[in-house]
Amino acid sequence: MFLQPTTSKTGILILEVMEVLESKQLRNYTSMRIGGPAAYIVTARTEDDVVEAAQFAKQKELPLIALGGGTNVVFSDDGFRGVVLQNQLSGFDIDARGLLHAKAGENWDSVVARSIEAGFYGIEAMSLIPGTTGATPVNNVGAYGQEIADSLISIRAFDTIENTFVELPAESCGLSYRTSRFKAQDYGRFIITELTLQLKPIDASYKAPSYPSLASELAKFNTDSPTPAQVRSAVIAVRSSKLPDPKIIANAGSFFKNAIVDKTTADKLISEYPDAPVYAYGQDFKVAAGWLIEKVGLKNYRTNGIWVYDKQALVLVNESAEHFSDLKVMYEHIQKTVFEQFGIAIEPEPELL
Ligand code: EPU
Repeated sequence: MFLQPTTSKTGILILEVMEVLESKQLRNYTSMRIGGPAAYIVTARTEDDVVEAAQFAKQKELPLIALGGGTNVVFSDDGFRGVVLQNQLSGFDIDARGLLHAKAGENWDSVVARSIEAGFYGIEAMSLIPGTTGATPVNNVGAYGQEIADSLISIRAFDTIENTFVELPAESCGLSYRTSRFKAQDYGRFIITELTLQLKPIDASYKAPSYPSLASELAKFNTDSPTPAQVRSAVIAVRSSKLPDPKIIANAGSFFKNAIVDKTTADKLISEYPDAPVYAYGQDFKVAAGWLIEKVGLKNYRTNGIWVYDKQALVLVNESAEHFSDLKVMYEHIQKTVFEQFGIAIEPEPELL
């Protein structure tokens, strides 16, 4: 059932400014390609569209969620009984001092590319991360020692509780390893429309991230001081070789977060496995979950159409699964096996809705 143009003023506006598609399968909107129907899917291209979508959801007494590229979200087979807003707001600007404004629907990798072309660094190590710009703070996206929290100044968002646009300073966003207030206490409250980042001018003081898995790619440039553009090329080469392209192979990037453990657990692990990838993380320690999965022998394991990717065990590939339950069987098996062998709990990284 589509909205009738005559029903209400809001209804007319929605029809005029947005496509309203009913009962659409969410598997077509996420890179994992799993998930049942949404009650409504609307496409927002302007801030006014976002306001309209919020009013529409209120009028229908339905919850509203925003979807960027759908690269870090997996919906259940029941789908979502609410309004899914596809964020396609576009706009990009960077000034002479490296203050960058990007609308939420901008492709993230293109924002990274344009920032380097404009002569600035700070996000180059996050090259080729799939998805939209507005989604990056939700998960505090990061790679090779950089994360969005390092350059984020503020977020503009529509507050669906206060019914107004707000400017949220980065410090108020609760950004920490792969999480934020948008994934926790304020889940579903804000529709992010724009990010402001502060980048740094590229000059002789630039130091490339010294990250073990990047080193061999960077060495190919035969220089002691690789440029941000070279770092971007190296990251693209490493990511392309280790991570499946979600446009071609269905996946949601890292399916597990790396585990954060206390000193006792970290010491025990290192005493038993001196080669374990364990890194200091504040007072705690971070253990590479891909390594744990590989150590329990589940890298390259297949069940119910889901495959533990052979080049990076953190990634679960959907080869032929149609149901969320197929994915669940796989990830719970991995969690259980890792916990039994190491006593370490690993948690899914994408939002499971
Ligand atoms: N490792 C294994 N086996 C594996 C995978 C990894 O032994 O199958 C070991 C590696 O040898 C290395 C360590 O684990 O010693 C860390 O691996 P890597 O540098 O590849 O990074 P990661 O911790 O597996 C994280 C992010 C990635 C990001 C990379 C690079 C998370 C959950 N994942 O992976 O992000 O690209 O670092 O910085 O933090 C994503 O979030 O979707 C994502 C791909």
